[in-house]
Amino acid sequence: MKLKIGVIKGDGIGPEIVSEAIKVLDKVVKTYGHTCEYTQLLMGGASIDVHGVPLTEETIAAAKSCDAVLMGSIGGDAKTSPWYKLEPSKRPEAGLLRIRKELKLFANLRPALLYDELKGACPLKEEITEGGFDMMIMRELTGGLYFGERKTVEEDGVMTAYDSLTYNENEIRRIAKRGFDIAMKRRKKVTSVDKANVLDSSRLWRKVVEKVAAGYPEVKLEHMLVDNCAMQLVKDPKQFDVILTENMFGDILSDEASMVTGSIGMLASASLNETKFGLYEPSGGSAPDIAGKGIANPIATILSAAMMLRFSFDLDKEAEAIEQAVLKVLEEGYRTVDIMSEGKQQIGTEKMGDLIAGYIE
Ligand code: IPM
Ligand code: MG
Repeated sequence: MKLKIGVIKGDGIGPEIVSEAIKVLDKVVKTYGHTCEYTQLLMGGASIDVHGVPLTEETIAAAKSCDAVLMGSIGGDAKTSPWYKLEPSKRPEAGLLRIRKELKLFANLRPALLYDELKGACPLKEEITEGGFDMMIMRELTGGLYFGERKTVEEDGVMTAYDSLTYNENEIRRIAKRGFDIAMKRRKKVTSVDKANVLDSSRLWRKVVEKVAAGYPEVKLEHMLVDNCAMQLVKDPKQFDVILTENMFGDILSDEASMVTGSIGMLASASLNETKFGLYEPSGGSAPDIAGKGIANPIATILSAAMMLRFSFDLDKEAEAIEQAVLKVLEEGYRTVDIMSEGKQQIGTEKMGDLIAGYIE
C-alpha cells in the first residue's frame, strides 16, 4: 500500500517529535511492505515566518490531497514570541482551528490510559489507580465557542468582549453517533458531559444524545455535568469508558485526563471527518521552553502515527506493532524526563525514537 501523508512539523518541539514518529513509520512501512510519500506542509508559526499567515490556501489544498496528515504541535511563547503581536486571527492557533474547520474534522479522539509501567509517574494515589484506567475522550472539534462569532467592543465606555457558543442538532448528532460507535467497540459506556444546569446548548446536547442513544441499546449512557466530571477524573478515573463532550469542555478535560496518565507527552489524538481522512497529533502543546533541547517525549506523536495507520489506512497490525514497541521500551525501563521515575533510565527524544523503531517487528 502507498500511504500519502501530509506532515506538519510545526513549532516548538514539533519538528523533533515528528522526526521520531517518521522514523518509526518508515520502519513499519518497510517491515510490512508498504511505502510512504510525505508532503511537507507549513502551519502555525512556521507558516507565519514564511508566508505571514498561519495557514495558506495552498497548504489547505495540499493537505486535502493527502490521505492523512501527521502533525507535531504549533504555537510559541505568548509572552516572547513575535507571533503573538499579530492580531488573534493571524496567530499560530488560528491556523490549527482553520485547518480543522476546512477539513471538517469534527470528531477528536483522545485516548487516555494508564500504562502499568508508568504508574510511578501518575500523580494519583495508588488506591485510586489500582487496576489502571482506559478512557477515550470524544471531543466535538468544529463547533461551539471556538468557532462562534466573537468581538471586543467598547460599550458605554466599558470594554466588552463577546464569544458565542452555538450548536445545532446535526452537529451534536454526528459526534454523538461517533461516540456510541466507538463505545460499541470498547466497554459500551458513554458519559456525556455538559453543563445542562446552565446552558441552552447543553440542554439541546443532552436531548440529542439521548435520541442517538436509543439506537444503541447495548450502550449504557450517563450524563455528567462538566464541573463534576473534572472532579471525577481525579477521584475515580476508572469509571470512564467514552467521554462524549463539546469542544471547550473536551479541550480542558483532555488535558486533565492526560495528566492523570502520568504525562501529556503520552497522549495521542486523531481528528476525523466523515471520510477516512484524519489529522493526527499529540494532545500536548509545542512546549517552547524545552524546544531544541532534545528532551521532549516523542511517544504521543508516535502513538498518533499508530492511530493514523489504524483509522485512515485500516492497517491494524502495523498500528499494533507500534503500540507493542512503545510498551516494550517502557517495560525495559527507558524514560524521557517527563515520565522519569526512580530506577529507570533517562534518555532523550532521538534515542526514544531509535529504540521504538528498533523494536518494530
Ligand atoms: C488542543 C489545543 C488547541 C485547542 C489550541 C492550540 C487551539 O489546546 O488541541 O487541545 O484548543 O483545540
Ligand atoms: Mg488543548
